[in-house]
Amino acid sequence: MKKIFDSIKLGQLSVKNRAVRSATFERNGGENGVITPRLKERYEALASGGVGVIITGMMGIGGNSCLNKVMPKIYLEEFTEKFKEAAEAAHKFGAKVIVQLGHCGAKSTDIDRGDHPYAPSDIEAIPGKPAKALLKEEIRHLTAEFGASAAKCRSAGADGVQLHGAHGYLISQFLSPCFNKREDEYGGSVENRARFLFEAYDEVRTQVGPEYPVWVKINYSDLAEGGLSGGDCLQTCRELERRGIDAIEISSGLVPNQTASQPVKSEDDEGYLAEGALKISSEIGTPIISVGGYRTPSVIEDFLNKGNIEAISLCRPFICEPGLLNRWAAGDGTKARCVSCNRCYLSPNLECVLNQ
Ligand SMILES: Cc1cc2nc3c(=O)[nH]c(=O)nc-3n(C[C@H](O)[C@H](O)[C@H](O)COP(=O)(O)O)c2cc1C
Repeated sequence: MKKIFDSIKLGQLSVKNRAVRSATFERNGGENGVITPRLKERYEALASGGVGVIITGMMGIGGNSCLNKVMPKIYLEEFTEKFKEAAEAAHKFGAKVIVQLGHCGAKSTDIDRGDHPYAPSDIEAIPGKPAKALLKEEIRHLTAEFGASAAKCRSAGADGVQLHGAHGYLISQFLSPCFNKREDEYGGSVENRARFLFEAYDEVRTQVGPEYPVWVKINYSDLAEGGLSGGDCLQTCRELERRGIDAIEISSGLVPNQTASQPVKSEDDEGYLAEGALKISSEIGTPIISVGGYRTPSVIEDFLNKGNIEAISLCRPFICEPGLLNRWAAGDGTKARCVSCNRCYLSPNLECVLNQ
């Protein structure tokens, strides 16, 4: 019987329980992408609250990768020192920190290189700011930036990195037929649409070595007509396993605050994306993390024991209650207070309205 509070290994990473804080855009990039002291406070609260692994909110890997000006930039000189403080704060309480390597592609609004966002094909995701299809030499430059960012995170004390391949950002734009209309070796078949992810992964692996945890978050389904489907996802995960990925977090949806972060009104809504995670975990040996609507310890343990899911991850509940796991560990197994209202998406300091 798997239990939430089992100490386990997720690939090469030893963790103290099966509950992961899923990536949560923390808006801690100040006004210019430099990490602010609030990140350390946030990780201290989460780690002292019992979380085993904190996956950071997406952090930008290079020019034009950021959603907006408050997304932290790994490529700034200040990153190492500021991130180190936040990671050390988490380590003091035995939590591990995985940096989510992000590139928002056509959705990037902080254009600090050239004059347009990047994308697999010409797309206008931001009205009035059309993105242009990446040239092959630009793709090579971006995969090198993924690798360099991973190496920088490692030297700044991160316990691993996670490539953000879900939710309609750049890697997901390549994977998704909704965005990727290319006719070269980066478009068309799933092998081609996944090529950018594989090349970014390979570059990261080369830069950090075989023993460093490298994870990915990927869509099982885009939940959009004509989008990526479960079969494409399985094929991509099989290849990632062959290449040596350490853990795969299964999400879905192209629109983070709608399809990825859905309402959870009752226990029946919990684990609303688990079907994909259960399917992938039954087909491959890489540890699978399932995200989406987990709120109640007994329900979480039911899902853990239905198949081969190794860990579950939660986002919104920890915004509301950073000490949620300690509460559960102390024997109060009532559901998380989070009501999935999604108002945290709009909160400038990532506060939960229930706490105001
Ligand atoms: C405020 C907020 C910020 C988020 N930021 C990220 C992010 O940076 N990267 C990511 O992969 N997912 C992000 N997500 C999605 C969550 O990681 C998670 O996949 C989704 O909310 C479903 O989990 P939940 O029901 O436990 O909230 C965010 C969600 C919220 C509510």
